[in-house]
Amino acid sequence: PFHFNFSPKDFPKLKNDAFLLACRGQETPHVPVWCMRQAGRYLPEFRESRAGKDFFATCRSPAACCELTLQPLRRFPFDAAIIFSDILVIPQAMGMDVQMVAGKGPTFPEPLKEPEDLLLLQSKVDVNKELDYVFKAITLTRHKLEGKVPLIGFTGAPWTLMAYMIEGGGSTTQSKAKRWLYRHPEASHQLLKMLTDIIVEYLLGQVAAGAQALQVFESHAGCLGPAEFQEFSLPYLRDIARKVKDQLKESGQDVPMIVFAKDGHYGLEDLSQSHYEVVGLDWTIDPRSARERTGGKVSLQGNMDPCALYAPKERIYEIVKKMLEGFGTRGYIANLGHGLYPDMDPENVGAFVEAVHAHSRHLLNL
Ligand code: CP3
Repeated sequence: PFHFNFSPKDFPKLKNDAFLLACRGQETPHVPVWCMRQAGRYLPEFRESRAGKDFFATCRSPAACCELTLQPLRRFPFDAAIIFSDILVIPQAMGMDVQMVAGKGPTFPEPLKEPEDLLLLQSKVDVNKELDYVFKAITLTRHKLEGKVPLIGFTGAPWTLMAYMIEGGGSTTQSKAKRWLYRHPEASHQLLKMLTDIIVEYLLGQVAAGAQALQVFESHAGCLGPAEFQEFSLPYLRDIARKVKDQLKESGQDVPMIVFAKDGHYGLEDLSQSHYEVVGLDWTIDPRSARERTGGKVSLQGNMDPCALYAPKERIYEIVKKMLEGFGTRGYIANLGHGLYPDMDPENVGAFVEAVHAHSRHLLNL
């Protein structure tokens, strides 16, 4: 009979640690590479697995999350896996209804409107109970990865989650959420604090379940200016890293953390001094200037324009070559500047990965 121990212990030995070494600025045989949204609709096998199934029901199935996480690894020699899940599982755990509407994206039928609505939220969330399905998915996937590459866990950052909870879905201006920052700063801080506490527990739970690195997505940094970023995003990003690291240290653990503040150029210096080992970059930042501005204090991750994957393969190689030469091969993790889009050609994703490996090996052997 087939028995498999899906408890968070006795994990298979890690065979490829290039990603973890690069997070810490250590020497690697090649530049490690993975892609945000590497599990996604650009893969026919993903579309087939997801067909006719509710998105969040899929997120609640550890077996489905495991399969979707592994799919891109079967095709491409990525150096890391990221658990299939979503940032919006936290608002759900706080009692909010969130649905994935085809052609529209995530939708909250009853978003937060005024500060009084905070009373409707579950402020003390039993993370281990409510988000247990994510932890189970991580443990199962870490076993099923068989040590091929490390497994990344993730969360949305407080401001990004707050923005979704108020906007009720995607928005170009985030004006409803920003209205809170200017009109209800105290209530905003109350909500951000509430989210921070849950996020810390959530990330610690992911590590306990088997996550080997953690990425914090501040996807809505771009609509904040430097002053609002300083007040409503950065302190919470810092708090999260410090609290997670302090807690892990107590149990003798140390897991690299990545902060990705999309379009948050103005915050780059601060982000490089906020206790994260890695700062993720979108494509609007020049690699050399990012290195200068972060002063070698952190590893960098990114930042090819996802749309460059529409280019012919030879052109992708040239773009990757420039990117590698700009960032250098040390303390660098190649990635896109944001997620893959559903209409992208898997072959070009393969060409991107291959270009990073080939050209970085070339540079390292010069
Ligand atoms: O492969 C991976 O990157 C891991 C899985 C992952 C998903 N969402 C799966 C997903 C991760 C890391 C996320 C994070 C996430 N979710 C973010 C932060 C990253 C970012 O993009 O800035 C955000 C903002 C969300 C909220 C969300 N979920 C959006 C905006 C969408 C897209 C809606 C659409 O229709 O395109 C989702 C859905 C989603 N999450 C998909 C996937 C693969 C696609 C929908 C599907 O599979 O049916």
